[in-house]
Amino acid sequence: MACEQGICGACTVLVDGLPAKSCIVLAVQAAGHEVTTLEGHADDPQLERLRVAFHETHALQCGFCTPGMLLSALCYLRSSPDPREGAIRDAISGDLCRCTGYQPIVEAIERVARAGIS
Ligand code: FES
Repeated sequence: MACEQGICGACTVLVDGLPAKSCIVLAVQAAGHEVTTLEGHADDPQLERLRVAFHETHALQCGFCTPGMLLSALCYLRSSPDPREGAIRDAISGDLCRCTGYQPIVEAIERVARAGIS
């Protein structure tokens, strides 16, 4: 179970393309907006690149934070593929990794960002 307080980010969805913690968004607030879960982006090649990079860098341990991390990373890469570590850490700052595996997560996102630039 996630935190249900808007803290952990495990319930992250994209609302009009931006990360939002669904546990603190009322249904009425989402009315008229596009809400997508991770599954809604299953055909996105950038998401597939992130999945592969997460696998290659061992960026998940228990996997609890992974859906939120992937959505935050996907949104970040769509808007600003700046591969600098600080920018990536800012982009995932709303997602709490209880296993504290941030370094490989950042490396995975950085890897995809750099591939997009070259
Ligand atoms: Fe376990 Fe992030 S991999 S919470």
